[in-house]
Amino acid sequence: MKYRSIFASANDQQRQENFENYWVFTQEHGGELFEEEKDLAKKRDRLQHFKDNPVALKTPLKDPESFYRNYVEMQDDPASLDQMTLMLTAIYKFARHEWVGIKGAWEYSPTMAGAKTVEARISRIHLAEEFCHVRLFDEMLKTCGLDKVEWVPLSPWKEKVYEMFPKLPAFLLNAPAFVTELMGVTFYFHLHDLIGKVLKDEPEVCERLRALLDEITIDEIAHVGQRRNFIGATGIKVSKKLVSPFYTHFFKDIPEVALLFNIEQMIADGLAFDFNDVPEKMIERSWIPSYCQLAS
Ligand SMILES: [Fe+2]
Ligand SMILES: [Fe+2]
Repeated sequence: MKYRSIFASANDQQRQENFENYWVFTQEHGGELFEEEKDLAKKRDRLQHFKDNPVALKTPLKDPESFYRNYVEMQDDPASLDQMTLMLTAIYKFARHEWVGIKGAWEYSPTMAGAKTVEARISRIHLAEEFCHVRLFDEMLKTCGLDKVEWVPLSPWKEKVYEMFPKLPAFLLNAPAFVTELMGVTFYFHLHDLIGKVLKDEPEVCERLRALLDEITIDEIAHVGQRRNFIGATGIKVSKKLVSPFYTHFFKDIPEVALLFNIEQMIADGLAFDFNDVPEKMIERSWIPSYCQLAS
């Protein structure tokens, strides 16, 4: 055991030091911020590397129309769809929520030049990373031959909810923002396993999808610690209570998830998250709060 629970306690001074430490990490991790393009130099290079070295399915999707018919809204009975189609529509739907959430927050949050605190600077880079994730998800779908995917806004009232969210006062926003990141990491680990099962006869694409997903997961592991660092003693107890209702409610909106994943296990994994099961190659490129690390 090298690490403590993500819900481990931290005092104000530790949290301040960790913000400073994360700021150093995040600049190095993403490289230069291109604010106009909502992009980061190193992430852009990684994505380009994948695009320059494409792989494709040996056996193309049998029925891409079943993806296109169901990816924005499920039209068919989901139980009638094959695992591959369900997995791809689930990936799109998860990423779409992420994309909608960050669009609203990007408009509302101060630009890098206007950011007055280390927390605000961190948040700007964090959002740019999330835009990079949407591009990586898009590349996952393209790798499976789906090059006509459009990023479609949610229904008007749901878009409004996401627009309002970043305007909440910090004491209301911090716990759900942290739990959202934790849910992302949990989902991505489960997705990593599922990709292996669904693509067992397509080793090249399997490996590529996992490599694209790893790029995202490494950032998300850092985000989990970073968002946890915004939270004080009471907030962290509240956060723990939010895990189960939050995951349950969010995944209700994506009917594929219950068919592909064990949601109860995801909740249990979220509650138990402590970095110890994260592969070393990911830890090396990610960030963990000092108070979640056991002294060696
Ligand atoms: Fe993300
Ligand atoms: Fe994130």
